[in-house]
Amino acid sequence: MAADAPTVPPEFDQRLRELLRSDVEFIQLIEDDLISAGGKRVRPRLALLASEALGGVPHALELALAVELLHSATLLHDDLVDDAETRRGREAAFRKYGNAVSVLSGDYLLSRVLFLLAETGRVELVHLFAEAARLLAEGEVLQFQAAAYREYSEAQYYRIIESKTAALMRAATEGAALLGDAPRPLREALAAYGGAYGLAFQMRDDYLDLMGEEARLGKPVGGDVREGKVTLITLWLLEAYPDEVEPILLRRGREPGDVERLRGLAESSGVAARVVAAIEERVEEARRSLAALPEGSARAALEGLALAELERLQ
Ligand code: IPE
Ligand code: IPE
Ligand code: MG
Ligand code: MG
Repeated sequence: MAADAPTVPPEFDQRLRELLRSDVEFIQLIEDDLISAGGKRVRPRLALLASEALGGVPHALELALAVELLHSATLLHDDLVDDAETRRGREAAFRKYGNAVSVLSGDYLLSRVLFLLAETGRVELVHLFAEAARLLAEGEVLQFQAAAYREYSEAQYYRIIESKTAALMRAATEGAALLGDAPRPLREALAAYGGAYGLAFQMRDDYLDLMGEEARLGKPVGGDVREGKVTLITLWLLEAYPDEVEPILLRRGREPGDVERLRGLAESSGVAARVVAAIEERVEEARRSLAALPEGSARAALEGLALAELERLQ
């Protein structure tokens, strides 16, 4: 099955719609926008496939909905703090509805996450999500702190993406193991898979942000440079060519040709290829983690998801 084939069942969208129903028109409008724009539904897919790999676990749908809604809430907040133009191919919500409505609608989504977690009756799952949400907020703030202090390092980069992206992916897969009371080795395998996959996912996103094609990305390249974010590729360029790269990053790629220059340097120096190799390592780590799980279509689909991150680099 193609990795981008829809694998969330129709009940998922139906429950999502029910959960987001509100008689406050502004909330309904913003949530309708978010749902109809779709998104790839990667996180719920992770939760449902992890459940399937374990032979099915109670409340898998609630888990899948909770991760997607926590993710969607962070996107509403993230686009505002990043001053993003678009989300899911549409105008970012805060541009359309204003900052207040956008932030507060994100909070509304978080209230639904709490409801879903309560529905499972599993306090350990609440702990798991509390930790993921803590890391998420911490990662988002750390990214701004790193930019403010211009404190860039590989360790810092990995801490940021582990926190803001991988922690939630890990909660999706580990959450299934928790709900199924899976033996410790299986729980650890699923947690390791989710974490490694999450890192590969964000690293691929960051790589394409500079090296991708505008037509395929649906947004102009160089967004991270304009937002003052240093990712692995610009960090390594900075280390290799400080005199040329530092001024470009300091002026946030504002001069014509700046972003093109970074792309050219990344290609000619082999930095781009090194970043691709680093992503490949994470994908391999994710695949290796799956070895502990029973063979079958769900395990194969999880492997396919990880491999799809490499295909998207092409
Ligand atoms: C976007 O996540 C934020 C990142 C972690 C890069 P997705 O790319 O999964 O967003 P949607 O849900 O498909 O829109
Ligand atoms: C995505 O991070 C948001 C979170 C992971 C919380 P980015 O800001 O890097 O991703 P995009 O580019 O907005 O999707
Ligand atoms: Mg952003
Ligand atoms: Mg961001």
